[in-house]
Amino acid sequence: MDRRLCLITGASAGIGAEFARQYAALGWDVALTARREDRLEALAGEIREKYKVSAITVAADLARAGEVTNILNALSGRERHVDALVNNAGYGLPGTYFSTSWEDQAAFIQVLYTAPLELAHRVLPGMAERKYGRIINVASLAGYIPGSAGHTLYGSVKAGLIKFSESLNAECAALGHTDLHCTALCPGFTWSEFHDANGTREETNKMPKWMWMDAAPVVRQGIEAVNRGQPVVVPGMVNKGLATLTRILPEPLGRALVGGQSRRFRHMD
Ligand SMILES: NC(=O)c1ccc[n+]([C@@H]2O[C@H](COP(=O)([O-])OP(=O)(O)OC[C@H]3O[C@@H](n4cnc5c(N)ncnc54)[C@H](OP(=O)(O)O)[C@@H]3O)[C@@H](O)[C@H]2O)c1
Repeated sequence: MDRRLCLITGASAGIGAEFARQYAALGWDVALTARREDRLEALAGEIREKYKVSAITVAADLARAGEVTNILNALSGRERHVDALVNNAGYGLPGTYFSTSWEDQAAFIQVLYTAPLELAHRVLPGMAERKYGRIINVASLAGYIPGSAGHTLYGSVKAGLIKFSESLNAECAALGHTDLHCTALCPGFTWSEFHDANGTREETNKMPKWMWMDAAPVVRQGIEAVNRGQPVVVPGMVNKGLATLTRILPEPLGRALVGGQSRRFRHMD
């Protein structure tokens, strides 16, 4: 196989589906994974037809133990290896740390943190051997700015992905892997199914339209950043401005600003 392969988690909707389209438009083969097989098949069909590349689908629930192995086995069974990994699958868990069950929190950590870390760990040796690799961890502006009440672990998990990406990218360079890069992509409000899935659409729709981005420029900036070897990218001028503002403000002010705004769209029940 001459074409490179990009594995995208959470490819059945939103930002992940856009990653699939953009990598395919760049002439890459794509491997699409998520739970909804019908969605994956429809997107794979569209991509094969439009971009004349190969699109593999692997239905998997990342909350379940062993699914990372199943996904990678499905690819190696087709004699394909991963040249780029986009750790994108994710969702918001509404409510507080008090009101949510540990089972739900543990599944959240598994899908949004443990599975991305495991996938990266398992594709890295092959990338190093072939002297080429790209890993994009879809984090969030929420991981960049102060924590606030509600949806408690979302910011922590995304902050963890940002730190991990910085460290891994630095490690690749320190070990002399000059064409192996890792980037945390930190979107702010992005049009997708995210806020429908977590039941906050009504509240988030009241946020000003200038705060929102389409998935296409978010994804484009992620791909450009990882190709440059940039460890973290915050897409869009508004998001960059918010990220900078919360860093230069005195910490209590930054926390008050984020806390006040997030009360408008985070469920506390
Ligand atoms: N939209 C935003 O405003 C925003 C902002 C910052 C960061 N993000 C991040 O961007 C990433 C993509 O979100 P999105 O906005 O594109 O949301 P989305 O449209 O709801 O897509 C989420 C994707 O994750 C998949 N997924 C959810 N749970 C899964 C599980 N247990 N196993 C496997 N796949 C699972 C979904 O597929 P299935 O349901 O088919 O499994 C879907 O493909 C997430 O990591 C999110 O945290 C989003």
